[in-house]
Amino acid sequence: MEDSIEVMLQERNSKLLYRYRDNRVLTFAAGAIFSGLYGLWAMFCLPGLKVPFRLKVPFLPSSKDQTENVMKLLEGRRGRLADLGSGDGRLVFAACSAGFQCTGFEINSMLLAYSRSQAWWRGIPHTHATFVKQDFWKTDLSKYTNVVAFLAPGVMADLEEKLLNELPDDARVVVCRFPFPHWPHSCTSGSGLDQVWAYNISSVRETRDTTSSLKTHP
Ligand SMILES: C[S@@+](CC[C@H](N)C(=O)[O-])C[C@H]1O[C@@H](n2cnc3c(N)ncnc32)[C@H](O)[C@@H]1O
Repeated sequence: MEDSIEVMLQERNSKLLYRYRDNRVLTFAAGAIFSGLYGLWAMFCLPGLKVPFRLKVPFLPSSKDQTENVMKLLEGRRGRLADLGSGDGRLVFAACSAGFQCTGFEINSMLLAYSRSQAWWRGIPHTHATFVKQDFWKTDLSKYTNVVAFLAPGVMADLEEKLLNELPDDARVVVCRFPFPHWPHSCTSGSGLDQVWAYNISSVRETRDTTSSLKTHP
């Protein structure tokens, strides 16, 4: 009788041990899968380690409607265009077919390789579209008369300051989904998540000058 109790206890313990081992294997496998997926997401979607955390904007492609809205607000314009964070290159390709000389600034190597291969595949010459691995916050944008950006709400105030310091008077900036917090927009197109806003730098500077002169001579 005592023997059989011992045998039963031994069996129970070994079953528990197996279950515990099984759980550990499962936990380890789940951890490995999760880390792998996060690694892949970070590789494809995050801008890289050199960009400060506060200014990090992950990859999210413009929708078809959003792209069309951007192009509507660029109608009648010509010249150089910069896409700040060009992702897979879709805004650059749309602007390029409308006749702009485009530069896509992108810091994520995977997205950069993808957009370069797309440009090559479509037979677009470098004079029409180039993709450069460059942090746009550290780039002088003074030669661009057209700028497009689809970024994040937290960086828009910093971007206002940078663009106001650098862009020429005849420049137009078109932003997607998140408007500038202080600038008056010249026009807008679309609604909801696809809404885009255009800002003429000359009007923004005029408004700024009027506001500051009102402050000094009330
Ligand atoms: C929301 S996505 C927009 C992609 C594309 N412009 C579009 O509309 O489909 C923002 C992109 O900006 C890139 N990015 C973020 N910070 C950057 C920086 N400082 N310099 C260059 N690219 C940056 C990200 O890697 C990401 O691809």
